[in-house]
Amino acid sequence: MTYAVELVQVTKAFGDYTAVDQVSLQIKDGEFFSLLGPSGCGKTTTLRMIAGFESPTQGEILLHGQPVADLPAFKRPVNTVFQNYALFPHMTVAGNVAFGLEMLHTPRTEINQRVAEALALVRMSEFANRRPHQLSGGQQQRVALARALVNRPEVLLLDEPLGALDLKLRKQMQLELKQMQSEIGITFIYVTHDQEEALTMSDRIAVMSKGKVLQCAPPRELYERPLSRYVADFIGETNFLDGTLISSNGHAEVLIDGIVKVIAAPSSVEQGAVVTVAIRPEKLNLFSLRDEEGSLLDADSKARQLEAEEGCVSIQGTVRESIYIGTDTRYVVQLTDKTQVVARMQNFGTRFDHYLPKGEPVLVYWSVENARILLD
Ligand SMILES: Nc1ncnc2c1ncn2[C@@H]1O[C@H](COP(=O)(O)OP(=O)(O)OP(=O)(O)O)[C@@H](O)[C@H]1O
Ligand SMILES: [Mg+2]
Repeated sequence: MTYAVELVQVTKAFGDYTAVDQVSLQIKDGEFFSLLGPSGCGKTTTLRMIAGFESPTQGEILLHGQPVADLPAFKRPVNTVFQNYALFPHMTVAGNVAFGLEMLHTPRTEINQRVAEALALVRMSEFANRRPHQLSGGQQQRVALARALVNRPEVLLLDEPLGALDLKLRKQMQLELKQMQSEIGITFIYVTHDQEEALTMSDRIAVMSKGKVLQCAPPRELYERPLSRYVADFIGETNFLDGTLISSNGHAEVLIDGIVKVIAAPSSVEQGAVVTVAIRPEKLNLFSLRDEEGSLLDADSKARQLEAEEGCVSIQGTVRESIYIGTDTRYVVQLTDKTQVVARMQNFGTRFDHYLPKGEPVLVYWSVENARILLD
């Protein structure tokens, strides 16, 4: 299979600083692919190498199976939309979009047709005769997109294109961009440091840190099956419990501080290894150990019941904080060994009646497959 874009062990060093470190990626035709990572992790540098503005120190880049090392930027079938999309202020919207084609001496009738097409795609046809200062931020951003789309690139590279917009407009543009991309079917490589943005828009995401790709997977897999502590932490919120793997027969059993035994999804990690158990707050459930009259229930028999009826394992704890946030309540629960975990419970139905106050003795329980063993 040939990919729209393929990076093979690509490294970029600036002097003795390695900005991109042996990155290999295979991006499919028509895919919405995101590079996600914190500031300075090498996202823009990776994009600039694909565009041809930088050349790799080592490794190879292929576009539709063809190595492009000798192809200058303007000959590559890619276009870039940057965060600071400077439009020409003295030209109309249509003039801005037409500019590139005019430079190539494309015939006027063809220019007009392609400009109209590009403006229709970004839903800006009615603004063709306005100047940039007469447009909102989101509209200017769409003109910048049209300016790239008018060249009919096979691959569109977008470097934090929504970074300058306010949150509400950014969310709206995320949906529009995603919809537009699936309509026109060209490959998007999208750079962002915003995990929610990447999850919302992407078919697949490569999570980067310090020049390396740590994991490359669809949003759901990244969230549900992170391979490392870094990825689990970067994407969403996670409870991390540090412990020692004491058994991995069937399920993984991890001892924390010599007291608490946590049971997790099967793992190939060796017994005795120091590991991290990751559990998402929304995968933890709480059961109050006080009945309606306020007397304490027997924790062990309830734990056995949860295991028998729901296949869940549990640990005793005490609610330390209850934070009501509308859709959910966040509970900070202290386990018997003083470790704290966060559980997030949805407030549906009459859940409000079941609100657990500070000091409430509880069982924290979860399905074993939702607790995952991570190595770093
Ligand atoms: N021309 C250059 N010369 C020297 N170092 C550079 C050059 N360009 C980038 N770097 C360094 O390489 C690293 C990666 O930079 P890059 O711009 O790719 O990061 P980024 O992931 O896009 O970050 P941000 O989210 O802040 O845009 C940074 O530490 C940066 O300082
Ligand atoms: Mg950047």
